[in-house]
Amino acid sequence: MNERTELLIIDDEVPQQKILKVCFEKRGFAVRTAGSGEEGVALFAQHRPPIVITDLRMGGMSGLDVLKEVKKQAPGTEVILITAYGDVDVAVDALKSGAADFIMKPVDLGNLVQIVRNAVERQAVMAAPRQAPPAAREPGVGPIVTRNQGMAALLESARCAAQSDATILIRGESGTGKELLARAIQQQSRRAARPFVAVNCAALNENLLESELFGHCKGSFTGAIQDRIGRFEEADGGTIFLDEIGDLPLGTQVKLLRVLQEGEIQRVGENRTRTVDVRVIAATNQELERMMAGRTFRQDLYYRFNVISFRLPPLRDRRDDIPLLAGHFLELYAARAGRPAPAISPRALESLAHHSFPGNIRELENIIQRTLVMTPGAVIDDVIIHADLGVPPVEDIAAPGGALGEDAGLDDMLAGIERREIEKALREAGNNQSEAARRLGITERQLRYRRAQLGIR
Ligand SMILES: Nc1ncnc2c1ncn2[C@@H]1O[C@H](COP(=O)(O)OP(=O)(O)OP(=O)(O)O)[C@@H](O)[C@H]1O
Ligand SMILES: [Mg+2]
Repeated sequence: MNERTELLIIDDEVPQQKILKVCFEKRGFAVRTAGSGEEGVALFAQHRPPIVITDLRMGGMSGLDVLKEVKKQAPGTEVILITAYGDVDVAVDALKSGAADFIMKPVDLGNLVQIVRNAVERQAVMAAPRQAPPAAREPGVGPIVTRNQGMAALLESARCAAQSDATILIRGESGTGKELLARAIQQQSRRAARPFVAVNCAALNENLLESELFGHCKGSFTGAIQDRIGRFEEADGGTIFLDEIGDLPLGTQVKLLRVLQEGEIQRVGENRTRTVDVRVIAATNQELERMMAGRTFRQDLYYRFNVISFRLPPLRDRRDDIPLLAGHFLELYAARAGRPAPAISPRALESLAHHSFPGNIRELENIIQRTLVMTPGAVIDDVIIHADLGVPPVEDIAAPGGALGEDAGLDDMLAGIERREIEKALREAGNNQSEAARRLGITERQLRYRRAQLGIR
């Protein structure tokens, strides 16, 4: 770590401010402190430190205000929030709007140091010179198909992260492509030729999971009839993908923490430790922050995982990818069946664009697979899609109020569909925004955002 990394600490409680200052100065950071958000922002403008730690609740400017101001001035700055126990909702929102991380009071200094180290590592990783990615792709890792801008930016960051050994946490709803991204990262890393080992942490009970991860020696429990190496050893030199870490039993969390801290594992029933060289990529579709607040997920482990994190957007938030992905899967599965890919009728595409996709890309993939089987001909028809989605066909989409002329671009078409859906939901909900959001299967924030974008009053 760069020993003179500059740090700005903003806290209106003087004792806490002092403790933090001493803690980080002892570790070689150059620390500045401010007693209010206003003072902090002024200091930031002057010195531009790469890392800012700020209390959330302060008189005057809040930590969130500080976050926004700092990000506006220097988007690459890592802002860490200190929150009260009950502020987990605010904290989760802050993460979504660019905070690096948050820590709950009472502040555990060990965890905070880990968070700051993560931030330093992240900045180093993202600033490192880029090497050309290895050319060979492992067969079986498909391309990540997208034309969405947010996704493109995410993939660019992932390419940077792939060059390092930093631990990565991939968030996202079920079916958004977490495992695909993990495999792509492995393929772009110096470990590409080494194993990629995926473990589903939700599939096994505590004892079996530990034996699976770390291995066991003969006789360590009933059924252990011979020595067995664990998945960490199997992944040596390569990458281990820990899927569904939100389901890790607390006991296993403790053991995993040791592995991440020491780079050493211990087989179940054995005293000696073994060193492993493994890059860890973890994934979850759960809100770990909430689990931390509820004490079902250890904070120290969370901060070990959360060095670099990616949040894959749900498909309904990147509808511009629906036609592209539909085409991609059509080609893929038609080729596998040894037939030319059928076209997809515009109406059928509209229906897909309409759908909320709770199962995200996997759902779209399954729909295409099934409709392909049901369509021997050259065109996938709206009726088939509707039979699959289990909804009646939409009434004439090109009805009044829409900008759906024959040659309107697809984007306009989708925007038109979305506008009508939102207006309909609002009408049906008697203009109650949260109810309308519920009907649409999106959050109220997303709805507000889309309304503003589409100019719906
Ligand atoms: N951008 C994409 N381009 C092409 N295929 C994709 C894309 N994203 C996901 N897929 C495909 O969608 C399917 C689901 O992806 P994946 O298994 O990676 O999701 P996941 O987030 O791990 O889901 P779960 O939480 O259910 O395990 C896979 O078949 C994957 O290849
Ligand atoms: Mg998965």
